[in-house]
Amino acid sequence: MEISASISTLLLLLSWMCFLLLFLFLFSNLLTKKRDKVENVASKPKLPPGSMGWPYVGETLQLYSQDPNIFFASKQKRYGEIFKTHILGCPCVMLASPEGARFVLVTHAHLFKPTYPKSKEKLIGPSALFFHQGHYHTLIRKLVQNSLSPDTIRRLIPDIETEVVSSLESWVSAGHVVNAFQEMKKFSFNVGILSVFGNLEGNYRDQLKENYSIVEKGYNSFPTMIRGTSYSKALLARKRIREIISEIISKRKEQRLMEKDLLGHMLNYRDEKGKTLTDEQIADNVIGVLFAAQDTTASVLTWILKYLHDDQKLLEAIKAEQMAVYEATEQGKMPLTWGQTRNMPFTHRVILESLRMASIISFTFREAVVDVEYKGYLIPKGWKVMPLFRNIHHNPEFHPAPHNFDPSRFEMAPKPNTFMPFGNGVHSCPGNELAKLNMLILIHHLVTKFRWEVVENQNGVQYSPFPVPLHGLPTRFWRND
Ligand code: HEM
Repeated sequence: MEISASISTLLLLLSWMCFLLLFLFLFSNLLTKKRDKVENVASKPKLPPGSMGWPYVGETLQLYSQDPNIFFASKQKRYGEIFKTHILGCPCVMLASPEGARFVLVTHAHLFKPTYPKSKEKLIGPSALFFHQGHYHTLIRKLVQNSLSPDTIRRLIPDIETEVVSSLESWVSAGHVVNAFQEMKKFSFNVGILSVFGNLEGNYRDQLKENYSIVEKGYNSFPTMIRGTSYSKALLARKRIREIISEIISKRKEQRLMEKDLLGHMLNYRDEKGKTLTDEQIADNVIGVLFAAQDTTASVLTWILKYLHDDQKLLEAIKAEQMAVYEATEQGKMPLTWGQTRNMPFTHRVILESLRMASIISFTFREAVVDVEYKGYLIPKGWKVMPLFRNIHHNPEFHPAPHNFDPSRFEMAPKPNTFMPFGNGVHSCPGNELAKLNMLILIHHLVTKFRWEVVENQNGVQYSPFPVPLHGLPTRFWRND
């Protein structure tokens, strides 16, 4: 009896001890976890400084109720080169330094994916290269790059000259003030068509142009499927463009033409198993490239027209360079050569300075695919990231007296990542050489044979959506003789 009593006491003691040990184990575990958590919070990078504005709307109203450049510049002044905000329903981190832009676009590009609103993606076409990363993007980009390589675009010079001269003549013969931006858009669209389709039949060109202008109107309107709205009309016009492109593709396939334009490059593509691109993929990329080429080139050309108009000394200097080329072409009797377009150093610097001053692509958008740490700050997964090109181009540390138009600053190459009018990294602009070629040829004919006067020359800017001079720079043109 005594023995059994002492055994049960021992068992009770043992079970108490087990309980105590279990308790101690659990408690210590809990403590460690808690300590880890505290340490984690302490060592976890913090969000960048900045204001997230009001619930839901964030700082969207502040951005759209003033000049966006003032919004970005004042933020940078207040918070420095990296700051957070909340616009258009998205939390964002903005980066205003060359290193920040390089981090997002080049060295850590795999951590950030391109991001566009679904409504816009639908209008351009989901297979367009802008929206992709990785293998598919590399494949399409190679085809686009080949179709826009110096070797290919040099062949376009005579056709671009024809477009330039016929545009300038039409502005003169209009006999009245024209909206320079709208006219530059027509010109840029025609050159876009040249690089995508080569010499396209006139009726196809007109149909594409007509439907394209409807798509454009819808692109910046409120996306709703309600019949009769700009957005729903744009979707219908896009469908028609798709049909026109299919017709052009069928004709090309029938004729077995081996053209060097973008359509030719895409039709000739075969992967290692002999698979071709679908008509859908081709159409989305054709629409995408036309879209990327038009307003960008037209906005910069409109600014060039204004900068040259407002500074007679600049105009005289560029004229002197271009008149020498004009003489070399026997006063325009011979077409411009590729070599001549490569040897216009002053005009080239004026173009670079115009790209810097106007910075028509003020920023770009990416989205963090994982939590990213940059300079001790956290960029959470899913947040938008915006490298601010304009802030960098207008920073006196990299471009002294940034508000002065001074082409001589480009006599020396700018420091790396301080001049990115065409972006940087895997998504940088494959059309940059064509864009500059268009500008060189247009300036050549403009200053050697024409005069122009800007009517209502105001200093305001309008956003369409890129910044352009107010009212599209109403201008009148004359032939020199
Ligand atoms: C002055 C005129 C132009 C400017 C300032 C410009 C600027 C840019 C910039 C900044 C990007 C990069 C956007 C980003 O990283 O998110 C870009 C991309 C692109 N641009 Fe341009 N561009 C111009 C003209 C053109 C032309 C003429 C073409 C074609 C004929 C073109 C085709 C493209 C394409 C296809 C992309 C997307 C590339 C990709 O995602 O891999 N651009 N452009």
